[in-house]
Amino acid sequence: MAFPTETVYGLGADASNPAAVARIYRVKGRPANHPVIVHIGDAGQLERWAREVPEHARKLAARLWPGPLTLVLKRALGVGDYLTGGEDTIGLRVPGHPVALEVLGQFGGGIAAPSANKFGCISPTTAAHVRSDLGKEIDLILDGGPCEIGIESTIIDLSRDRPVLLRPGRIGTEEIAATLGVKPEPRDRGAPRAPGTLESHYAPRKPLRLVAIEQWERGAWQNCAVLCFRARPVGDKNAVWIRASTDPQRYARDLYSSLRALDASGCDEILVEEPPASAEWAAVRDRLLRARSK
Ligand code: TXA
Ligand code: MG
Repeated sequence: MAFPTETVYGLGADASNPAAVARIYRVKGRPANHPVIVHIGDAGQLERWAREVPEHARKLAARLWPGPLTLVLKRALGVGDYLTGGEDTIGLRVPGHPVALEVLGQFGGGIAAPSANKFGCISPTTAAHVRSDLGKEIDLILDGGPCEIGIESTIIDLSRDRPVLLRPGRIGTEEIAATLGVKPEPRDRGAPRAPGTLESHYAPRKPLRLVAIEQWERGAWQNCAVLCFRARPVGDKNAVWIRASTDPQRYARDLYSSLRALDASGCDEILVEEPPASAEWAAVRDRLLRARSK
């Protein structure tokens, strides 16, 4: 069943049912060695899935759950490889969406849920996105309206001695540092694998190019689909022009919908104006770097 969360729509199944989880992988076309996030109704269920719940995890859960934050912890005894991709860790999150929390509350158990899109493609932020990607292959879509945050949760690995940021999201490293008193480190080689951190992910079908502001002036772009901070100039010859918000949170909220619209146009290429390099744009930049063609 697909369901809304505050980040993106998830494709959910009973996390303690290996056959149900296997079906998620089949529908997504996702390789079996990529772990899924288990969604839980409250932090009180952490011990059922994690064999160690360090102080850092308790602090983040108390302050930021329900919310767009996934914690990677050492998995509990009995948590199967079918959830963890064979890793010794498990990703856990209490989503901050009333529909997701209602489902979790009534169900009582954990719900394994990756984003409800085909592997490597753009995550869905509306029920209509899910229907167009997976509609024929799944049993039910719960429509909770468009997702408020629009990009996937921040992932923090707490399974080792220091917190490590595996995926940036709405909750930034400053906010985590303010709660823990220590700033999460960037990913290193020892970090658990995460497909959201593959170099190419979240990608549209059309080629996508990131264009710096100086290049804009010089380019004679035609028949492109454009996502840009400026209004469309008079006489512009491009297929589509979407004017992006200069607020990073609103930009993130609309990003996947915009990319889908650009991708669906008759353009030859998608051009996205490079967002600023500041910390508040880190999550958006991360997604755009993975969405662009290599
Ligand atoms: O916002 C979100 O996190 C959404 C909503 C539905 O909750 N879910 C989502 O799931 O983005 P998915 O499967 O598309 O991405 C989950 C990410 C992957 O990059 C996966 O590798 C990582 O979480 N992950 C899950 N369990 C992990 C683990 N044990 N160790 C390392 N990474 C893990
Ligand atoms: Mg995904």
